[in-house]
Amino acid sequence: MKTFRNRSVLASGFHAPVCGEVECLDDVLIVVDGDGVIIEVLAKDDPAYSDRLAAARTDGSLSELPKGTYLLPGFVDLHIHAPQYPQLGNALDVPLEVWLQKYTFPLEARYQDTAFARRAYDVLVSDLLASGTTTAVYYGTIHEDANRLLADICIEKGQRALVGKVAMDNEAECPDYYRDASVSAAVEGTLGLIDYIREHPDNGEGRVKPVVTPRFIPSCTDDLLTELGAIARDHDCHVQTHCSESDWEHGYVLDRHGMTDTESLDRFGLLKTGSVLGHSNFISASDMEKIKVREAAVAHCPLSNVYFSDAVFPLKVALDKGVRVGLGTDISGGPSGSLLETARNAVTMARLLEAGTDPDLAREERSNHPGTRIDFRTAFYLATAGGGEAIGLPVGLFRPGYQFDAVLIDPEAPLGSLRLWPELDEGDQILQKIVYTASRPNITNVWVGGTQVSAAEH
Ligand code: GUN
Ligand code: FE
Repeated sequence: MKTFRNRSVLASGFHAPVCGEVECLDDVLIVVDGDGVIIEVLAKDDPAYSDRLAAARTDGSLSELPKGTYLLPGFVDLHIHAPQYPQLGNALDVPLEVWLQKYTFPLEARYQDTAFARRAYDVLVSDLLASGTTTAVYYGTIHEDANRLLADICIEKGQRALVGKVAMDNEAECPDYYRDASVSAAVEGTLGLIDYIREHPDNGEGRVKPVVTPRFIPSCTDDLLTELGAIARDHDCHVQTHCSESDWEHGYVLDRHGMTDTESLDRFGLLKTGSVLGHSNFISASDMEKIKVREAAVAHCPLSNVYFSDAVFPLKVALDKGVRVGLGTDISGGPSGSLLETARNAVTMARLLEAGTDPDLAREERSNHPGTRIDFRTAFYLATAGGGEAIGLPVGLFRPGYQFDAVLIDPEAPLGSLRLWPELDEGDQILQKIVYTASRPNITNVWVGGTQVSAAEH
């Protein structure tokens, strides 16, 4: 199963072309070209199906996935702080503004040491691939060498990724030991990484892309935000940042700029097609409209929001308005690197938002957010096609023109946590069980652009 380039793959599984709906794929034939792009998907009732299947069998280009396994599009994680992986599961006891100064800036400052960076990034990218994250949107640090290393490691291991040099120059909010020395230092670092990634000799397919990354408004001066907006425009780059994440942060921007994060990012040219706004819990209806019109997207980070936002992002409201949304683990603000777990948490948090949480209140008084739940179908869409659409990449679906980025789920994996009962489970209930109960051992093979990038050892 090493590579599926120039092969036809016979598989069963699921994908979600429409938010909230799941398509069951039953013994479909997926034809992949030499670049790892899907050129045809034939269902069993397609008139050409039997001939094509027979031909692929005869000419030896058929790869048959084992019966009883399920192929899913690879997962898209829209919000990861790569340098924070060493503190995953730690440091969740204080508010955002304290967490940054007490734990996070000191850890990120360590990436001055490239040996440390190499160790951390190596294990991070391998772990995320093994967890099914085929596309990752990464914040790096302020350090040129460590950022280049992160891009190198993604390219070497085959992960599709956006990699950003974190820009942060505001003396009032960033410590002396971890801050861009000046606007021009942050600009040079950003431009340097863009060139490095785009000209990388092993990145001919453009699998890794640069992303302009103002950490968030509090950590940047207005001069820097202006420059970064111009770079994103002139170099046609994605943008990522944090937006209206916590009460403190949302209030800080209202105080400093007299407007919301969304409005302010927009005037700096940072709200554009493919901009990824982390969290966005406190955005207004007009912010949502602006995000939609600009074709930017929200990275919904349900688990992180529990610890650092004290609020649930109004996901269903945003989706109903037509805002692009995908999921983010927010490593290490969220203590899990798994997008499956994040999808579960998106369902759970939406249920809590709808139902309310205060047991002292009577049922009918507990919440004023009716109709804001989502189900596993929407969560699965967000983890796959929604994430791909957010950053404008042809990933997350088994469709002609899309990359063959995929994970194989084996319910029989010995150490797995997924248990199917053939006489009980059918149709998209199987996907429901996968979303709710599958774990890393169940993800036995992972492909990016038709090339296998991770495989379980057994
Ligand atoms: N806001 C600014 N920096 C960060 C970060 O590293 N994590 C989170 N969750 N929010 C931030
Ligand atoms: Fe974050």
